[in-house]
Amino acid sequence: MKIIAHISDPHFGRDIPSVCKGLLDELNGVTAPKPSLVAISGDLTQRARASQFREARAFLDQLTAPYLVVPGNHDIPLYDVFRRFGDPMGRYEHYISKNMTPFYEDDEMVVCGMNTAHGHTIKDGIVRPDQLATVCEQFALHPKRWKLLVAHHPFVIPRQVDDSYLVDGAAGALPSLVAVRVDMILTGHLHVSYAHAPDAAGYRNDDHSVLGVNAGTCMSDRHRGEPNSYNRLEINGDMVTIINRQWNGTEFIDGPEKAYRHGRGAERLIKVAEVTAPAVPPTTPA
Ligand SMILES: [Fe+2]
Ligand SMILES: [Fe+2]
Repeated sequence: MKIIAHISDPHFGRDIPSVCKGLLDELNGVTAPKPSLVAISGDLTQRARASQFREARAFLDQLTAPYLVVPGNHDIPLYDVFRRFGDPMGRYEHYISKNMTPFYEDDEMVVCGMNTAHGHTIKDGIVRPDQLATVCEQFALHPKRWKLLVAHHPFVIPRQVDDSYLVDGAAGALPSLVAVRVDMILTGHLHVSYAHAPDAAGYRNDDHSVLGVNAGTCMSDRHRGEPNSYNRLEINGDMVTIINRQWNGTEFIDGPEKAYRHGRGAERLIKVAEVTAPAVPPTTPA
């Protein structure tokens, strides 16, 4: 079995230290089985300040599992207009990574990242054609494994969420991602997980479907009616179980989960089980 810990929106500068420590224990195998990969879908910092990036770098350096990271809109300076337009990714590249299309593979899965952040507007994202082509080329090379895309801005959203939050270019990109048989798109930005949605967000055409998996804010106090949480994706043969692990003020515990099995054609991922859990209220820092 392979485990992906999907974390998002830590927002160093607005992080809650106790949750940060609890999350490190989860990711490093102390309080939960150690993941095969930690996928981090952006907004590492609150305002793209050097001090916040240094905290993010220190966090990444404490991870003992492989990780794949992409930037979010908050990782581009907002008020520093010179940097925002002249060198928007400079600090991210200096402290975190120069690779805007990171890649991970093992014998069961292929995971690609894509940078959807830009500095032209405050919070919107965009799909860049060159990056879309790069990740599609990678996915096309691996026909038989699970394929996951990691990006900050959502490509698909549940019905109850305003579609203005969709990344610009989603409608054009989804057919390309479906054509190379991407199974799941892991995103953040909303600070809301899809765990409580009546059904997962997705996109399908006549012969394939892709599942949208969103993560809440893993450790910041920027709550949107949910506790801090992250997603554990357990891949076991043709099954994937997505468990929303939620911070209850003391530790991360299992929240809602959904299980999917590979089907055929447009029913590529079929929901076969669902576990609901009582809602955990957001906790505020002491
Ligand atoms: Fe965020
Ligand atoms: Fe964001």
